[in-house]
Amino acid sequence: MTKRQAPLIVGNWKATPRTLLDATTFIKKLEQKIARRKEKLPKKLYSIAVPDAFIHPLSVLAKRGLIGGETVHGTTLGQTTGISTPSQLASSGAEFVIIGHSEVRAQGETQEARKEKVLATLGAGLQTVLCFGERTRDKEGVYLEELESDVKETLSAIPREYFNKLVLAYEPIWAIGAKEPARANECFEVVIALRRALASLVGIDHAKKVRVLYGGSVTLETMNSFLQEGGVDGLLIGRASQDVTTFTDILVAAYQ
Ligand code: PGA
Repeated sequence: MTKRQAPLIVGNWKATPRTLLDATTFIKKLEQKIARRKEKLPKKLYSIAVPDAFIHPLSVLAKRGLIGGETVHGTTLGQTTGISTPSQLASSGAEFVIIGHSEVRAQGETQEARKEKVLATLGAGLQTVLCFGERTRDKEGVYLEELESDVKETLSAIPREYFNKLVLAYEPIWAIGAKEPARANECFEVVIALRRALASLVGIDHAKKVRVLYGGSVTLETMNSFLQEGGVDGLLIGRASQDVTTFTDILVAAYQ
């Protein structure tokens, strides 16, 4: 399989870096490193999901990329302590948001909550990266059926016109923060299942607008196997996006 054009490379900083100064220094260095590259690169070539407190200051500095949120805590304005809503993230400079990351699911995020969040973030105009992934695999392929029904149920209330702002990320939980990523062929079979679920939900034309990413221990060495043989349109990268030199090399390599 040949590499698709213009992959979407999304970093996920999780609970890093330690201070706003560290975060702004990273983005300034990233912008400088990109500016020095001789290769022909797209105008906007990176997306990085960052802690809420960093969204606004980083969005001002990010000329060659987009800053987004790692989750959204709630959907409804009002008297709820500790919540940020989609409109608050968007008006702080977030261009996108990740929903349903397994580390957020592990804190108790339910499918019902994800359904509400996806509708609200897409409604607020945020590109939405919705994560799916199995905890373990079984020989009978039940995990594939479960992933497909999770996709269909979570997206059942989403109007079709929102699908062009929707991105799915396949993140097998066993490969996140691990030593090794999944193999490209393992990724490929799930990507087919996710696309099948989308097509059965909204028809092939709307399903085709949705980009699918792979995430889980992606490195500079393994990234191309996913882009070339994993059937994905991009990558969701945790640890390797938290080092400015590695992340720059990944971005440049993705566009060669
Ligand atoms: P990792 O994280 O690349 O460090 O495995 C990926 C993710 O959690 O999105």
